Amino acid sequence: MDVTTFRVDLVRTVDESYPVVVGRRLDERIAQFLERHRDRRIAVVTDSTVESLAVPALAAALGDRAFDVFAFPAGEASKTRAVKERLEDAMIARGFGRDSVVVALGGGVVTDLAGFLAATFTRGVPYVSAPTTLLAAADAAVGGKTAVDTPAATNLIGAFHQPSAVFVDLDRWLTLSDRHIREGLGETVKHACLADAAFFGALEDAFVRQGMTPAQFVRDDALAELTARRNCEIKRDFVVSDVHEGNRRMGLNLGHTIGRALETAMGYEMNHGECVAVGLALQARLGERHGYVGAADVARVEALLRSIGLPYRLPAGVSVQAVMDAMLHDKKGRAGAIRFVFQKGIGGLVTFDGGAYARPVDAAEMRDFLASQAS
Ligand SMILES: NC(=O)c1ccc[n+]([C@@H]2O[C@H](COP(=O)([O-])OP(=O)(O)OC[C@H]3O[C@@H](n4cnc5c(N)ncnc54)[C@H](O)[C@@H]3O)[C@@H](O)[C@H]2O)c1
Ligand SMILES: [Zn+2]
Repeated sequence: MDVTTFRVDLVRTVDESYPVVVGRRLDERIAQFLERHRDRRIAVVTDSTVESLAVPALAAALGDRAFDVFAFPAGEASKTRAVKERLEDAMIARGFGRDSVVVALGGGVVTDLAGFLAATFTRGVPYVSAPTTLLAAADAAVGGKTAVDTPAATNLIGAFHQPSAVFVDLDRWLTLSDRHIREGLGETVKHACLADAAFFGALEDAFVRQGMTPAQFVRDDALAELTARRNCEIKRDFVVSDVHEGNRRMGLNLGHTIGRALETAMGYEMNHGECVAVGLALQARLGERHGYVGAADVARVEALLRSIGLPYRLPAGVSVQAVMDAMLHDKKGRAGAIRFVFQKGIGGLVTFDGGAYARPVDAAEMRDFLASQAS
C-alpha cells in the first residue's frame, strides 16, 4: 500500500498582549476587568495565608458576582502536580468547565500553580494574575512562565500561558515580612543592574543615602510604584523579544548561576533572593576581573545590597566544591557547562559573539574565583 502524507498547515499568529496595572486598592479594578469575562465562572485560586488577607476585599469588590475560592496550604511544598490535581478535581466537583476564568491571588507559588492549572484546565482557560508579594510582582507576574516543582528540580513541569491581565496591588506588600520584602528587593536590584542605571540610582538614594527600612519602603508610594513598574517593564522588554527563552531572556539570569548553586549548596537555608544577592555581587566581582565592570560600580552594587540588608559575600563555611557541583549539575542547564551572564557597568549587560547574552566560564576559573571569595 502507498504511504499517504498530507500536511496540516497551521501557522499561528496570536495576540497575547495584556495590561499590567500597578497601584493601591485595586480590587475594584479586578472586579471591573472580570466584567469582560461576564460569561465565565470565577475560580479564585489562592493559598491559606492570602485567603484571609486578600479574599475579603476582593469579595467585597465583586459584590453580587458569584465566585468560588480554591485554597491550598501556603508554601513552596504545595507547588506540586498533586496539589494541582486536587484543585482541578475540586473545580470539576463544583461544576467548573470551559467557561471558567481563574484569578491567581497570591505570591509566586500561587501565580505559578494557578497559571499552570489555567493552562491545562479543559485545555486552557484565561487567568488574571494578582501577585501579592514583591517577589512575585518583580519576577513571576510578567512572562507567562507557569509551573510546578518535582523532586528532581523546581519548575520542571509547566507551560507558557500568558495572563489576561496583571494587577499589582501595592497595599498587599504592607503585610509582608521584612525578610520577604528584602528577598523581592534582591530580584529588583538584579533588574536595575542589568537594565536601568536611573532606577539603580533611585534605590541607592533610598536605601544607601536615606537608610530606608523595608517597612518604610512599602509605605513609600513613589518608590513602591517605581519598583513594581520598572520590574515589570524590564521583564516585559526582555520577554517580548524572546518569549520562549532563546537568548535575550537569558539576560534575566544575571546573578542566578552562582545564586541558584548557592541555594542548593546551602540546603535551602538561605532564601532565593538572598542567594541571588550574593550571586549578583560575585558576578560583578568576576566581571571586574574581565573588565566588564569598574571597581567603583562593584562597590555600588555591594553597598546597595548591604544597605537593603541582603548578603553580598559567600557565607562563611560554605563549600566551594558543593557550589561547583550544583553549578555543573544544574538540572535546567547544560550539564558540564557554566553559562554566565555579566552586567556591563550599572544598567546594562555584556553581549558576546553573535549577540549572545551568556558566555561559558571555564570550571577551573570559576573554582579559583570562588575559592578567592570564600571566607
Ligand atoms: N514564573 C516565574 O517567572 C517566576 C519567577 C520568579 C519566581 N517564581 C516562583 O515564585 C515562587 C516564590 O514567590 P513567593 O516568595 O511570592 O512565594 P509564595 O507564594 O510562597 O509566598 C511566600 C509566602 O508569603 C505569603 N504571602 C503571600 N502574599 C502575602 C502578603 N501579601 N502578605 C503576607 N504574606 C503573604 C505566602 O502565603 C507564602 O507563605 C517560587 O515558587 C518561584 O519559583 C516564578
Ligand atoms: Zn530569581
